[in-house]
Amino acid sequence: MKKSYKLLFVCLGNICRSPAAEGMMRRVVEREGLADCVEIDSAGTYGGHRGQLPDPRMRSAAANRGLQLTHRARKITEEDFYDFDRIIVMDDMNYENVFRLSPTRETDNKIFRMREFFTRFPEWSYVPDPYYEGHEGFELVLDMLEDGCATLLQEIKPDLQRA
Ligand code: 4NP
Repeated sequence: MKKSYKLLFVCLGNICRSPAAEGMMRRVVEREGLADCVEIDSAGTYGGHRGQLPDPRMRSAAANRGLQLTHRARKITEEDFYDFDRIIVMDDMNYENVFRLSPTRETDNKIFRMREFFTRFPEWSYVPDPYYEGHEGFELVLDMLEDGCATLLQEIKPDLQRA
């Protein structure tokens, strides 16, 4: 199978939630032996952390779950809208910012909220920004991503098989 389906996870700074989503999705896809047909990346709507590794608190929380996060932060570009099949954002502010940058109707339809893939967390309509939170904030984000990424893979599987 060729690498064909492309997922981009987006948050504000691209140092906490979206690089964690990238790492989590990579693991979910690898676990099902589908690593060769999905490409995964992440980006931020704010470019101030460009080039940085994920926040040490997120790297540490992820490492405790066996995930090594090595992404370097970058800002979303117009090209990303054409390049990726789905753009998955973490909260409503990300959604508005990404939607505003989206160049066409067709690219508008590529934008999804992570919460659409939750099977748990009925009280949450977004993935909360853990940047100003304590340790529990990072754990909650990882719990949400574990749930959402698993559902997302089930949803895109039919598209992978057509690739
Ligand atoms: P992220 O978290 O959007 O999950 O990467 C944040 C990281 C940095 C900032 C805000 C949120 N910041 O304001 O610098």
